[in-house]
Amino acid sequence: MSAMVSNGYQSGFGNEFATEAIPGTLPEGQNSPQRVAHGLYAEQLSGTAFTAPRHANRRSWLYRIRPAAVHEPFAPLAHERFHNRFEEAPATPNQLRWDPWPLPQAPADFVDGLVTLAGNGGPAEQAGIGIHVYAANRSMQGRFFYDADGELLIVPQQGRLRLATELGVLEIGPQEIAVIPRGVRFRVELLDDAARGYVCENFGALLRLPDLGPIGSNCLANARDFLAPCAAYEDVEGDFRLVAKFQGTLWEAKIGHSPLDVVGWHGNYAPYKYDLRRFNTIGSISYDHPDPSIFTVLTSPSDTPGTANVDLAIFPPRWLVAQHTFRPPWFHRNVASEFMGLIAGVYDAKAAGFVPGGASLHNCMSGHGPDAATFEKASAADLSRPDVIGGTMAFMFETRKVIRPTRQALDAPQLQQDYYTCWQGIARHFDGGRAG
Ligand SMILES: [Fe+2]
Repeated sequence: MSAMVSNGYQSGFGNEFATEAIPGTLPEGQNSPQRVAHGLYAEQLSGTAFTAPRHANRRSWLYRIRPAAVHEPFAPLAHERFHNRFEEAPATPNQLRWDPWPLPQAPADFVDGLVTLAGNGGPAEQAGIGIHVYAANRSMQGRFFYDADGELLIVPQQGRLRLATELGVLEIGPQEIAVIPRGVRFRVELLDDAARGYVCENFGALLRLPDLGPIGSNCLANARDFLAPCAAYEDVEGDFRLVAKFQGTLWEAKIGHSPLDVVGWHGNYAPYKYDLRRFNTIGSISYDHPDPSIFTVLTSPSDTPGTANVDLAIFPPRWLVAQHTFRPPWFHRNVASEFMGLIAGVYDAKAAGFVPGGASLHNCMSGHGPDAATFEKASAADLSRPDVIGGTMAFMFETRKVIRPTRQALDAPQLQQDYYTCWQGIARHFDGGRAG
């Protein structure tokens, strides 16, 4: 039996998709007929409460070779680095920055290579996020994974991935993202020698496109640029393992077949991918900056209007044209907490030290902004001409709750002990009121 290959994509965000790898799989006019075509089983996968409002309701119907219930009992699986223990170290108001996480020396697949850096909330309270990095050098072999605690937003920084999921295949590389819904089983295959990136595990409401307000009906991330997989399946039996993340820890069960055996599905609960280079970036064409919420790709709302459980924002290539304006990101303090990563290039608020694969954390009300070198350069810049920021892609997970670094993140040699010094060179320019 051959492994899964992509059957292509379908465009749209949260659409009511319908797709089948074998013609005639999907029942007509009902979800659960007495007998499903081709001897398949019907199974509903619910990603929101049955009674969630219609605009937010997500569920899909899967037509598969065996139901998801067919496996042996789960037993705990040790994994010290991937967890949701966000209370084990004191939360810190210090600005933090890390060098890139190293690629593994020993064989490590995507699950092996997950390391939890920080987080807040947790799966039990259905709010907050886990922030992880992954570094892998081989494909998952003979095992499959699902996360019952949250959806997984995967942000590759190095190396392409093939995400073989129950609902089909997504292939992504750096500057693309993918979201694997809570509960969906998948296998990560490496398409290059090594892979590294970031994962936001969202315990809260499902990520969605932000409302656009006066921007109107277009711009930022456009719905048509989101791609869900067409149905693809594998019909394979063997001595496999199903790994589950459940309430912060990993579990493993024997399974005698591939769970990627969905021949057709319909519904609006599905994995998807998005190319960050498609983002239609909006900014000031007169003076000053809009707030960085203008860079929001996806948002997970909380119960408080306008206050996200988590936003994914990006800082893509863009033109800076604002007049009599300090053009880089300004100094600021934020009630929300900001975890940033760099996918490619240079971030325009820092002259050095923040490199692709690295990360920074600026927590609630911790002052941050451009470093001394960036401030001096931008303060003297010629504003008669536009600047273009090219060849870069940074991202931010911004969340309403304080982000608590894990013990392993604080103890890691990647943590830059001298990060604070990037602001120590900021000169005093105050003239005592003598000028002007
Ligand atoms: Fe910030």
